[in-house]
Amino acid sequence: MKILDTFGKNLLGMLFEGLKPKVIDILKEKNVSIDERLHAICQLLKDNISYYDWVGFYFKNGDKEELKLRTYVGEETDHTIIPFGKGICGQVAVSNENFIVPDVQTQNNYIACSLTVKSEIVVPLFKNEENIGQIDIDSETLNAFTEKDERFLEFINQEVAKIL
Ligand code: SME
Repeated sequence: MKILDTFGKNLLGMLFEGLKPKVIDILKEKNVSIDERLHAICQLLKDNISYYDWVGFYFKNGDKEELKLRTYVGEETDHTIIPFGKGICGQVAVSNENFIVPDVQTQNNYIACSLTVKSEIVVPLFKNEENIGQIDIDSETLNAFTEKDERFLEFINQEVAKIL
């Protein structure tokens, strides 16, 4: 690997490590509503990670086989309800697995929120081993996400699950 690539990866690792205590601080604010705390996490991520252009949390909508957008930061979206199985989010609701899409144009089962989005990551959120929601990030950069993002977002979801 080139020296510059190694340098970039280490910097990103340091950025994620620096954000983790901030995530914990936001989540422990018991006098702030859960929705506001989740929104603050979205804001923290979008403000600090250059290639995170839209950050949102979807959760299972009651007993229905669909996801409902709970909070987000970024461009407004029409996709506030997503049926299970539809789009990247709907697929993660049934697969229970992380989904990285390096180039959204190559996906057939994809719901476009904005024409400027080029790549996406969705990581499921588990409470008592049940897939109850997910964090969804869109990027205007092609091939933006790696395992480093997966590990970081898994950490966030684990911490969020503790307050739900
Ligand atoms: N692209 C997602 C829809 C949600 S938006 O990214 C906000 C999907 O295919 O499920």
